[in-house]
Amino acid sequence: MEIFVDTADLNEIQEAYSWGCISGVTTNPKIAASQKESYNFQERILEICDLVKGPLSVEVISEDTEGMIQEAKTYASWNPNVVVKIPMGKVGLRVTAILERQENIRVNLTAIMATNQAILASLSGATYASIFYGRISDMGYDPCTVIAETSALYKSRGIPTKIIVGSIRNMLDINKAFLAGADILTVPFKFLKQMTENPRTEQTIREFNDSWKQMREKNLIQLDEDHQLAERILTFVNK
Ligand code: E4P
Repeated sequence: MEIFVDTADLNEIQEAYSWGCISGVTTNPKIAASQKESYNFQERILEICDLVKGPLSVEVISEDTEGMIQEAKTYASWNPNVVVKIPMGKVGLRVTAILERQENIRVNLTAIMATNQAILASLSGATYASIFYGRISDMGYDPCTVIAETSALYKSRGIPTKIIVGSIRNMLDINKAFLAGADILTVPFKFLKQMTENPRTEQTIREFNDSWKQMREKNLIQLDEDHQLAERILTFVNK
């Protein structure tokens, strides 16, 4: 079970990665185009690679075989952690097979909406198959069925392609996608942040620390020297 962050925003990536539980990043042309300020694309990709020592998906925008292969080779040459995102379809499958089998370039075959597309993704040799949870729901289908069927097929046949689930639209999608069998979820930063927070957790920690403080103020708990030092530092920091 792994979580990636679905963004090209450096601050979001830096913050999420600092929590120690994020192992990769995914981008797509829409995400890359939605940044607030102008930027150099290659520099941004390299900056992300400096921050995150894990797979970073970069998507091609070419729509023909030659163009996709050329673009893929360019992105892959920037950093060994770059995984090239190739869109699902006849051209995408052909390109994936070439990149994975002849060029030693890892592919994330993206925009998968149905189990039969996920079957083709694995047969083309894709390292990752990206199933789009929210967009499948938008069409009136159950994304969990697609994830569960894909996961069952991959597992029963020993297929190494990993299932990434993207297009996450709310907190419940995260739990349901993992329970259905996703290997990896790629999650927008706002939901990752929300996953770390719960008002009841904060209230509980406050209650515990307040009662400790009260006991210390009344000097009813004695501490060894190291512990006292830590407490003094904490009081200083909190001032
Ligand atoms: C996944 O890799 C995609 O970047 C992403 O999750 C697409 O989601 P959307 O439906 O929000 O565009």
